[in-house]
Amino acid sequence: MSLFDTLNRIEVSDPDDAAEVPTSEHAEAFHAVVEGRRSVRRFTADPVPDDVFERAMRAAVLAPNSSNLQPWEFIRVRSPEVRAKVAEAAMGQPAATTAAEIVVCVARWDRWRANRDAMLEAFRGHDVPDAVLDYYGKVVPLTWSSGPLGLVGWGRWLMSRVLTWARPVPQFDGGGLYPRIVAIKSCALACQTLMLALHAEGFDSCPMEGFDGRRVAKAVGLRGGGHEIVMLLGIGRRAPGGIYGGRWRLPLERVLRTL
Ligand SMILES: Cc1cc2nc3c(=O)[nH]c(=O)nc-3n(C[C@H](O)[C@H](O)[C@H](O)COP(=O)(O)O)c2cc1C
Repeated sequence: MSLFDTLNRIEVSDPDDAAEVPTSEHAEAFHAVVEGRRSVRRFTADPVPDDVFERAMRAAVLAPNSSNLQPWEFIRVRSPEVRAKVAEAAMGQPAATTAAEIVVCVARWDRWRANRDAMLEAFRGHDVPDAVLDYYGKVVPLTWSSGPLGLVGWGRWLMSRVLTWARPVPQFDGGGLYPRIVAIKSCALACQTLMLALHAEGFDSCPMEGFDGRRVAKAVGLRGGGHEIVMLLGIGRRAPGGIYGGRWRLPLERVLRTL
């Protein structure tokens, strides 16, 4: 059994086989939600109820993520003053100015150690194989820390380029790039889950990368390094005319290659 199989078998919540098996009705509902989600640029004044937001957030954090380190933070901006500053930093886009709320979605690779420790604490009293403890004790620090001037990161990069000649190893980016990219990937998956979960409850969203990150960080009190705002989500109820155009995607043959 591989380490990743072992990781997935640690039972700190309900075991997998207790989960409901999806039926064709679930599939239909799923596709309706995916197809119905659009980027909405104008919202009504309706607020997003707390219970709706909380359920959507609970779904969002179920997103798959690197080593289950959950390297993300979501800042729910409801205060009109802070929201106005964030919307201004988003260059006054209507998706931000008309949104009932704005969620600032942040990748936080600076939290890997704290989150790892919280996970090990949750494992306490469970039968956790040594391979898993070893993974979180040795492999995770080696892949998530960058060291001063990114030296650990560059060492990791060099090691991966050399070892690949002998056996398969993950190919790391140099400096502090690797943990940053990994955290951004995981955070973006949670963002998508959040948007879909909101849509399933009759609310909509617009993901935005058109913003001044320095200004948004200042407005929401994000300081220091080791984090990056991945996107803003304007959320609320879709207003008439809130969708700017029909939907267009490249044909699947352009983006899908089967070998
Ligand atoms: C990471 C990301 C950043 C985006 N940034 C913006 C943005 O700043 N402003 C905007 O109006 N739409 C933004 N969009 C929305 C896209 O334009 C939209 O998803 C795309 O046109 C497809 O339309 P759909 O989401 O309705 O399917 C962004 C989407 C993503 C995923």
